[in-house]
Amino acid sequence: MQRKKVSRTKPDKINVGIIGTGIGQAHFEGYSALPNVNVVGLVDVDPKRAKLIAEKWKVRHAFTNHEDLLALRNLDAVSVGVPNWLHASIAMDALRAGKHVICEKPMAHSLEDGERLYKAAKRAKTKFMMAYNNRFRGDSQLLKRYIDGGELGDIYFGRCVWTRRSGIPGAGGWFTTKKLSGGGPLIDIGVHALDLGWWLMGGPKPVIRQLVGVHLSDARRMAAHGQARHDGHRRRRRRAYPLRERRGDHA
Ligand SMILES: NC(=O)c1ccc[n+]([C@@H]2O[C@H](COP(=O)([O-])OP(=O)(O)OC[C@H]3O[C@@H](n4cnc5c(N)ncnc54)[C@H](O)[C@@H]3O)[C@@H](O)[C@H]2O)c1
Repeated sequence: MQRKKVSRTKPDKINVGIIGTGIGQAHFEGYSALPNVNVVGLVDVDPKRAKLIAEKWKVRHAFTNHEDLLALRNLDAVSVGVPNWLHASIAMDALRAGKHVICEKPMAHSLEDGERLYKAAKRAKTKFMMAYNNRFRGDSQLLKRYIDGGELGDIYFGRCVWTRRSGIPGAGGWFTTKKLSGGGPLIDIGVHALDLGWWLMGGPKPVIRQLVGVHLSDARRMAAHGQARHDGHRRRRRRAYPLRERRGDHA
């Protein structure tokens, strides 16, 4: 007997909701540019703001509690763009409600919350994604293609640097209150820089989990190890390609 093919129809549109309407506005812009995405609801604890932004975006549902959004029957996914200390709990609520989640960085404001969220995302049947938007920049995508194609050889060292040039957002508020934000520059733009470097290098497994407080002699040993590998690489390269070839001087 011939088996009947069961066709799984994809929904025409993905219905998303946005929780937090600060950076949430950037998520809204992104979703609005996609023909297969509907922003069906938003949440902000500030009722005036929730109403105002919903009118501005022409979004049907405006809530002041994320649980009301998660209760919408046809909701597929949410963006979590609330202050840092709320990321993990709200993202976990959304996963429990069976929604796909894009969560703003940092993943959480403490290691414990980050680990709890990681486990919840692993268990969930839906997708969880951190909003590491820098991976999708044109230069990052191009560099990734070069690296994955082997054009830059074996990458064994990376250095991540980022300079904030446009002041401190929300000075005096949750952003600069360590108890609420979870940290300083590292947890702000540092996580973007580290993620980009780690992703470009193909996601190597971390062997050193804490760099802050590394003893100077360890740092020297690590640097010496990196230098030795670098020197070895240069020696091998010199042997393989005589100078004329390396310069591309074949005339
Ligand atoms: N990916 C990026 O480059 C990028 C850029 C900016 C901010 N962020 C991240 O986005 C998050 C939000 O930053 P922001 O600049 O928008 O902060 P913000 O303080 O300007 O805005 C946060 C909004 O969330 C609302 N809110 C607070 N608690 C809420 C709750 N329980 N439910 C619903 N809404 C709630 C606030 O009323 C406010 O409108 C932060 O974690 C930040 O690190 C990421």
